[in-house]
Amino acid sequence: MRILGIETSCDETGVAIYDSKDGLLAHDLFSQVAIHAEYGGVVPELASRDHVRQILPLISKVLLDAKTTFNMIDGLAYTSGPGMVGALMVGACVGRSLAYAWKVPSIGVHHMEGHLLAPMLEKKKPDYPFVALLVSGGHTQLVEVKDVGDYHILGESLDDAAGEAFDKVAKMLDLDYPGGPAIAELAKKGRAGELKFPRPMTDRPGLDFSFSGLKTFTLNTITKHRGDAVLPDDQTIADIARAFEDAVVDTLKIKCLRALKKTGSKRLVVAGGVSANLRLRERLTECVDEVGGDIFFARHEFCTDNGAMIAYAGCQRLMAGSCESLVIDIRSRWKIDNLTPLGEG
Ligand code: KG4
Ligand code: ZN
Repeated sequence: MRILGIETSCDETGVAIYDSKDGLLAHDLFSQVAIHAEYGGVVPELASRDHVRQILPLISKVLLDAKTTFNMIDGLAYTSGPGMVGALMVGACVGRSLAYAWKVPSIGVHHMEGHLLAPMLEKKKPDYPFVALLVSGGHTQLVEVKDVGDYHILGESLDDAAGEAFDKVAKMLDLDYPGGPAIAELAKKGRAGELKFPRPMTDRPGLDFSFSGLKTFTLNTITKHRGDAVLPDDQTIADIARAFEDAVVDTLKIKCLRALKKTGSKRLVVAGGVSANLRLRERLTECVDEVGGDIFFARHEFCTDNGAMIAYAGCQRLMAGSCESLVIDIRSRWKIDNLTPLGEG
């Protein structure tokens, strides 16, 4: 089965073609980072307008790259939630309409299921069951995964997502959007242990997260060190970036190890934009090695939003016989554990 996948839930227009026999045939992305950078974050209306502008040329290019004509496409998959409504509507309307015109089935894919399954596009991929740490701009969740669609949330953030905390702290430090990569870059110059930040909610049992206190702690540290200036000196800013990154990484590590212990699983999948963070990848790899487990990531470019993960996830569901009516339905909020296992939806 050959599936065209479309992602437009936030600020990347992503398109890909995945074939159940031949794997990923082509993928491409138009990033809106430059458009939103001057506002320091995503402006929903600008995002929707740009998806409208980019989407058809991108689909046309990816079809060419995959040496695929439209009559070779067996189904359409598009992100139908969670995400920004206007942005989601663009991918949903185009995806559903192309499926109607091409007389093939289509499926609305859960964005976080896309992230969760992205490591399946790699050579080293996990068998089921496993524990997944989903860390993106909007979500921080630990999920017990028995199979595609069979998800049980073990813990999640009670306030800010990890990526959101990176973005907000970057703003405090006057760094570029998106904040995650900017903090990670600056943290390389920071001295380990020079400043000590808290590891929120690790002193009590449970698998939930909270990053908003860490954000406030960071703001207070900036205020304490800046004196009469707008910001502290360059070395202190780098030390703050390092201390913040270490605190997030350490907190995620502690909870991941707890989740593996609780479920008895030895396999950890780490997915979503923050999983591109090198320090997180290194620390988690070391710790999972130490407990004799195995860890799985998507390649760097498939950690953040992309069409390939949507094409893959949609392909699994379409192969299992899922299909939808002509009503175009999107959801700004959608819990991953409301999804159904393959063949049941
Ligand atoms: O998955 P994603 O592309 O979009 C959502 O579904 O939210 O994740 C974007 C998030 C942003 O908050 C961004 O700052 C963060 O992922 N991010 C990173 C890194 N690269 C992206 N955070 C930390 N370190 C990185 N290298
Ligand atoms: Zn995402």
